[in-house]
Amino acid sequence: MIASHDVVIVGAGLAGMRAAVEAARGGVDVAVVTKLHPVRSHSGAAEGGINVALGNVSDDSTEGHTYDTVKGSDYLADQDASRIMCEAAVGDILELENMGCFFSRLPNGRIAQRPFGAAGRPRTAFAADITGHVLLHVMYEQLLKHGVKVYEEFFAIDLVLDANGECIGVSSWDIKDGGVHTVLGNATVICTGGMGRMYHGTTNAFACTGDGMAMAFRAGAPLKDMEFMQFHPTTLKANGVLITEGCRGEGGVLRNADGERFMKNYAPNAMELASRDVVSRAEWTEIMSGRGVDGCVLLDLTHLGAEHINRALPGSRELALDYAGVDAIDEPIPVRPGAHYQMGGVHTDVNGQTPLPGLWASGEAACVSVHGANRLGGNSLLEAVVFGRRSGEHAAATVKGMTRPDPAAAAASIARTEAKVEGLLAAKGPRADELRETLAETMYANCGVFRTGDSMTEARDTIAGLRRTYDEGVLVHDKGTNFNNDLTYAIEVGYLLEMGDVLTRCALEREESRGGHTRLDFVERDDEKWLVHSLTTRAIDDATINVGTHPVTITDYQPAIRTY
Ligand code: FUM
Repeated sequence: MIASHDVVIVGAGLAGMRAAVEAARGGVDVAVVTKLHPVRSHSGAAEGGINVALGNVSDDSTEGHTYDTVKGSDYLADQDASRIMCEAAVGDILELENMGCFFSRLPNGRIAQRPFGAAGRPRTAFAADITGHVLLHVMYEQLLKHGVKVYEEFFAIDLVLDANGECIGVSSWDIKDGGVHTVLGNATVICTGGMGRMYHGTTNAFACTGDGMAMAFRAGAPLKDMEFMQFHPTTLKANGVLITEGCRGEGGVLRNADGERFMKNYAPNAMELASRDVVSRAEWTEIMSGRGVDGCVLLDLTHLGAEHINRALPGSRELALDYAGVDAIDEPIPVRPGAHYQMGGVHTDVNGQTPLPGLWASGEAACVSVHGANRLGGNSLLEAVVFGRRSGEHAAATVKGMTRPDPAAAAASIARTEAKVEGLLAAKGPRADELRETLAETMYANCGVFRTGDSMTEARDTIAGLRRTYDEGVLVHDKGTNFNNDLTYAIEVGYLLEMGDVLTRCALEREESRGGHTRLDFVERDDEKWLVHSLTTRAIDDATINVGTHPVTITDYQPAIRTY
């Protein structure tokens, strides 16, 4: 099947659906290609809330939000982009409310706001602790309302390039019925989310395998700041499930094995609500110094009481009960840092446009950049909404009135994708999950909260071996066409291996510590040399990874020492 539309969005999480709705409002024909049903997207796992300087519980301002975002990023965020996001927040969040998002309320009826990490004021609007879930459902209603065509359970494999190297759509494997299908468009918008599955101990869903970043990279689009994987301080050891920062926003505290609130030794002012990089390092230090509890520290909510927990944090209580066997009303929850959010991604401008003609990106798959070296909790849903909207609007305006791509121009690209699938189905070798397991262990052990040149070199070399094995062939047992998850998993592992390679190489290059990238062999931030983005490229026909740099946009806030 070859279909064509004006704008094709790849991925149906919050950014993808927001982009699709705005493109449709722009008067063009829009399609979404997604491997999951939209309301199953990983945006639904964002629990604690979305940042917006409404000022409903304090004298907050968009200026304060912008400053906190830039400071939190360890000054690596582009300040023009951060300002755009923070200034747009009020309008965008009120629009979500008008669309039907039932945000939690104050007694006076206004939208409630809770404290979150590294925010100078209580700024995070929320729907109990299921905020992402609520936003996804409301945005899905909008998708239906605007008549957007959804190609559901279409697993994207390759961006389609024409003879000039311009992106004219995406080729996918039809998960339900099998076969390679192609959806062409004058604009393609990558909104495929993150890549946390390359780590053991991750909050990310099974679907978060770096698909869009890898496809864009292979098609020649640069990736930015890929060394910065954020570790969330409170995840369950057994499976990485997220226990929201909202728990600490509501007054939860962290204790070590001696019952001590250890954050006073690391961030005496903000304590548990310091930025995520600071809290994750503190936890890891406690655990490594022998003051942990079975590889964890303790998140204590018991003093909040049953009524407060059941009203504000019912989901967290349920998750801890189900996955750690702990009732947070009575006992503390054992937690540890887990890989949570890729702050880098496909290099874009503030409209989501990439340097590859025909290609846009937004959400976690993109790097605008508003998160720099460390994202603030509550800014990811906001980024998805603001830059999803902007990408959809810009893509639609750019291609409106254009003649749709000629299917003949896609023939060579489609043939390559079909040959790739046939090759995978015919190959022999180890199973892809063995490779993913080794990758995930290697990444958590060597490219985690703390890193060194030696540990990252070990990761790089291990990944190089895994990539060689993968290229020689992995065994896809299932040769069928219906719900062949064996095949799609093998393709996902290919994405993860390449993105793990990129992450490790970028991290090795950056000889300093900044935000979520903490090197024990280069402990200081080095603004003279490294106040720059990393920018990684590869040629279409040559898989060599080249790491370069790109300037950071600094407008209002000069880099300063960051304390909490
Ligand atoms: O902790 C959380 O609820 C996560 C939010 C986020 O990553 O923005």
